[in-house]
Amino acid sequence: MTSSGDATDPSTATDAHRPRYDFDFHGPALDTIFDDYERMHRECPVSWSDHYGGFWSLVRADDVHAAEHDWDTFSVAPSMILPSFGTDRPLIPLDIDPPALTPYRQLLLPFFTPQRMDGLIPRTRELARQLLDQVEGQEVFDAAPYCRMLPSMVFSEYCGFPVEDADRFDQWVDDIVFARTDDETVARQAAADVYDYFRALIALRRREPGDDVISGLLAAEVQGRPLDDEEMLDICYLLFVAGLETTAGTIRAGLWFLAQHPDDLAALAADPARIPAAAEEFLRALSPVQAMARTLRRDTEIGGVPMRAGERVVVVFGAANRDPDRFECPHEIRLDRAHNPHMAFGAGAHRCLGSNLARREVNVALEEMIRRHPRFELAEPAPWHGIGPLLLRPLP
Ligand code: HEM
Repeated sequence: MTSSGDATDPSTATDAHRPRYDFDFHGPALDTIFDDYERMHRECPVSWSDHYGGFWSLVRADDVHAAEHDWDTFSVAPSMILPSFGTDRPLIPLDIDPPALTPYRQLLLPFFTPQRMDGLIPRTRELARQLLDQVEGQEVFDAAPYCRMLPSMVFSEYCGFPVEDADRFDQWVDDIVFARTDDETVARQAAADVYDYFRALIALRRREPGDDVISGLLAAEVQGRPLDDEEMLDICYLLFVAGLETTAGTIRAGLWFLAQHPDDLAALAADPARIPAAAEEFLRALSPVQAMARTLRRDTEIGGVPMRAGERVVVVFGAANRDPDRFECPHEIRLDRAHNPHMAFGAGAHRCLGSNLARREVNVALEEMIRRHPRFELAEPAPWHGIGPLLLRPLP
C-alpha cells in the first residue's frame, strides 16, 4: 500500500500515488474476503485494485452509503455489474440513473410489495416441503439443489418463466453469474441465448397473456406509454439474473453456518420466531452480493484519496456490513443481533426491488429445513458461497 495523492488536486493522482489493495470479490476470492475486509478497514479503506480493468474499493459503511446516495458523481452507467453479465445493453432498472430511473421503479415496485409477496408464502412452503421429501430418509443429502431450486421455482412461476425450463435457467445463471470471471465468452453466449429465449417468451405472452409479471408488464404503462420490446427484454434479463441466484446464496450461507453451530441451530429449532432475525444476520455477514460497481462522472475525493472521472468505483456492501464503526464485533455472526442496519440490499435509489421476496423465501426455506431436520451437520467441508454441493447429515 502507498499513501494517497494530493487531496487538493485530484489531477495529481498518478498510478504510483494510489493506495492499493489487490481486492477481488468473485469466485475463490470469496473464501478469504472477510480477512480482506478486516485488513482494508484497518489499513486502507479506499484503495485501488487492478482486477476487471481496475477499480476503487470503498469499504467503510459511511463511504458506501454516501456513494449510493450521490448518483450525480457515482453513476450506474454503463453498468453496476463488474465484470458484465455478458451483455453491453443497460439492465433496466439497474443501470439507469435518476431521474430516468424513477418511472421504471414506479412500474416495477407494485409487483414486489410486501402484500403481494405474502401471497407467495404458501406456495413457497409447499415447494420447500416437496423438495425436502425428495431427499427424505437419506443419511447424507446435498442441500445445494434445495437452496437453488426453491427460489428459482417460486420466482419463475411468479414471473411467468416456464418452470419446465428450470434446468436451462440453472445452466444460464451458472454461465452468466459464475463463469463470467473465468471466461467472458461463456457469459456472452449464455446472455445471447437468454435474450433469444425471452424474445420468444414475450411474443408468446403478448398473444396469450397469463397471470404473471411478464404479462403484467406488457399491460402496464411507463410515462403513459407501453414498454417497447427492447425495454421488456432488458427488464426480463435483469429479473432473471437478479431473482434466481441471489436468494439461493443466502439460504446456502444460512444452512452452512447452522450446520456448524449446533447451539444456534437448536435455538432456532426451539423458537422458529427467531428465524427472521437470523436471516438478517446471514444477509449482513454472508451476503451473496458482496459488491456492485459505479463509474465516476467527475473527479472527486474520498477520505483524502483523489479519483478521476471515468474510473470505476466498487461499493463493497459486504465490507460495509462488517464495518467496526457500525457493527459491534462485526465478524461475529450473532443471530439475535438487535440493531442490524445492514446494506445487503443496497441503500440508495437502486435499493433491491426483490428484498420483500428474498426475505420471505429465505425465512420459509430455513423454517422448513429446520422443522424437518432440527439437528444437522456438515458431512463434508464446503464454502459458504457458490453453487457446489452442500452435504448435510441429519442427526438424531
Ligand atoms: C438475498 C437476495 C438478494 C440480495 C442480497 C440482493 C441484493 C441486491 C443489491 C445489492 C442490489 C443493488 C442495490 C444498490 O446498488 O443500491 C439489488 C438490486 C436489485 N435487485 Fe436484488 N437482491 C436479492 C434478491 C433479489 C430478488 C429475489 C429479486 C427479484 C425481483 C431482485 C431484484 C433486484 C432488482 C430488480 C434490482 C435493481 C433495482 C434498481 O436498480 O432500481 N433481487 N439487489
